[in-house]
Amino acid sequence: MKVIVTGSYDESCAVVAEMIKDLVVSKPNAKLGLATGGTPVPIYKKLIAMNEAGEVDFSAVHTVNLDEYCGIPGTHDQSYRYFMNTNLFDHINIDKANTFVASGMGDFEANAAELEAKVYEGGVADLQLLGIGNNGHIAFNEASDHLISKAHIETLTESTINANARFFEKKEDVPTKAITMGMGDILAAKKVVLVATGLAKVPAIKGLIMDDVITTQNPSTMLKMHTDAVVVIDKELADAVGYKA
Ligand code: GLP
Repeated sequence: MKVIVTGSYDESCAVVAEMIKDLVVSKPNAKLGLATGGTPVPIYKKLIAMNEAGEVDFSAVHTVNLDEYCGIPGTHDQSYRYFMNTNLFDHINIDKANTFVASGMGDFEANAAELEAKVYEGGVADLQLLGIGNNGHIAFNEASDHLISKAHIETLTESTINANARFFEKKEDVPTKAITMGMGDILAAKKVVLVATGLAKVPAIKGLIMDDVITTQNPSTMLKMHTDAVVVIDKELADAVGYKA
């Protein structure tokens, strides 16, 4: 696993946006695995600016998103489909037909099976972007005594519901279940890039970069088994976990 320490969160986002741009420039029909949450928003802003400046063309790119809440439609302003449209897809020259976010409505099991198929359709992702939950969850694979390899329905933990409540009017509005790629789906990507910032992420990042332990209680530690995993953190977070480059 490679760890990149930048001077600031903005710099981290610039580094990751450059990685994605370089990939798409060298492979115009690249397949991207995309993430939601607050962390990637500035990365998407930078990609929009690069696209507007003519530096990168998304017209042949395909995307698959990590996860989606169960019980809210893609038109709901807290659905991950809505997030992706408003934070990225509506502002770049991607063909929305080439973007996939699992549906959170209807038959959840069938939707998870559809997500599983999309992970591998046309080949695995060239790059999978990841954030990380305060408890080390990636996508919605929650800390537990076991993890699941394939796309499935996950019951969200109290920690995740609390952390995501800030995006909803009230905590009770946060869905309690989600459809998520499994750990095997995430590790199948050719390259995995995880971005983290903020002191709430200290315990999770400590477990990820400060030792060689792999534990289902911190799902992000599975990335230690990937041959091309990159963790991008800023100096504030690196200092807080005691990481020295
Ligand atoms: C959600 C998403 C994750 C994301 C996490 C952290 O639970 N399912 O993919 O990594 O939130 O989000 P944030 O970047 O807002 O801290």
